[in-house]
Amino acid sequence: MSTTSSHQTWGGRFSEGPNARVAAFTESISFETRLAPYDIRGSIAHARMLSTVGVLDADEFKQIEAGLTAIEGRIEAGNFPWDPALEDVHMNIEARLTEDIGALGKKLHTARSRNDQVATDVRLWLRDTLDSLEVEVDRLRHGLIGLAEREADTIMPGFTHMQVAQPVTFGHHMLAWQAMLARDAERLREIRQRVNRLPLGAAALAGTTFPIDREMVARELDFDSVIDNSLDAVSDRDFAIEFVSAAALIMTHLSRASEELILWMSPAFGFIDLPDRYCTGSSIMPQKKNPDVAELTRGKTARVTGHLVALFTLMKGQPLAYNRDNQEDKIPMFDAADTVAACVSLFADMVPHIQVHADACREAARRGFATATDLADYLVRKGVAFRDAHEIVGNCVQHAIAQTCDLADLPLDALRRFSDAIGDDVYEVLTLEGSVAARNHIGGTAPDQVRAAAARARHALGTQAG
Ligand code: ARG
Repeated sequence: MSTTSSHQTWGGRFSEGPNARVAAFTESISFETRLAPYDIRGSIAHARMLSTVGVLDADEFKQIEAGLTAIEGRIEAGNFPWDPALEDVHMNIEARLTEDIGALGKKLHTARSRNDQVATDVRLWLRDTLDSLEVEVDRLRHGLIGLAEREADTIMPGFTHMQVAQPVTFGHHMLAWQAMLARDAERLREIRQRVNRLPLGAAALAGTTFPIDREMVARELDFDSVIDNSLDAVSDRDFAIEFVSAAALIMTHLSRASEELILWMSPAFGFIDLPDRYCTGSSIMPQKKNPDVAELTRGKTARVTGHLVALFTLMKGQPLAYNRDNQEDKIPMFDAADTVAACVSLFADMVPHIQVHADACREAARRGFATATDLADYLVRKGVAFRDAHEIVGNCVQHAIAQTCDLADLPLDALRRFSDAIGDDVYEVLTLEGSVAARNHIGGTAPDQVRAAAARARHALGTQAG
């Protein structure tokens, strides 16, 4: 049915206004030419299978294969005129094949439909897209691990509620970003497993009357298995939703990192600087150097998250089986893929060049009473109950605020006024270095733990499956 109506569209000249508009409204070639190499690969596998089961003869297959390979060469060379009147990538290629090799080209579509064809093309494209995205996510992780090792001893304030909480090391912070991206990479590999299943053979929706060998086509195209149910195979786009969801999560992680880079580069923080080549200037304020890569990444996160909502909404009302609605999966899916790839790649380029101003980081931790919890823990070790210790340290902080100095700057007798459990060994715990070094367990911020965690992350990166 779909082939017949498309054929009319294809054969027509659209001289009347409404028909031309409908053609422009329904075409998808203007946004899906990236599917062409996958369409051709799928067609060759399909034709090879048809010849194996005797629907085509061996010579017919050879001619079809040669014709499709020649078309692929022309497309690669940018030498293939895409015709919107031919509606989509499938019909553009098939029409050209028939032009090139004659009536035999018309046999290619035996035992398939554009419905299972497009589902196959998109899965093949997405499999490659997932693989190349993972390479870039891993490159970014690699950069973060390197930066963590470089800054394993650099002390900065750790924040909760954006208020100085406890000192952490810059390296520890970088490894937190890395951990988020490690899960993102894991997600991409998991999604790949569900993407890598063959829809072809479902035909329009119910299967085909020809004696096809779907397992063979799956092997030819490196799919792990065939999709069992023909109605499901041509209609569901849950794999697209999963991919764009993973892309939106990656963007969300990059957006959080962006927010921090932007804050840290503000002169009010002054924690980091980014090389000029990753920044832009202002047309009016000559002094400005803006972290636009980070800001735009944060901004583009909105777009990718929007695409996820679009795909969910696209799917929710669709009855089985294929509906033309599904053509609308491409623009969000392709744009999500392009956007996330661009952001991840730029971050991977930029991260190794982040300059950290250790003095400013340290000074911010010192100013924020970041070792107050260490003083409370010290009192507990001296036999004070934690709740009482909390109260005592709160009083010390109040006093230090009034004196406009840090806890470590208060003389011993001033501290002892709040608790006689405080001795002259207290200054060891009030230092920032002592504070981070004391958090010396797996997952803690001590520089030695950061170095060990970086080594584990590097090892995981080198050995992960897939
Ligand atoms: N361009 C269509 C899509 O993206 C291809 C499948 C068309 N099938 C059909 N029955 N009209 O979904």
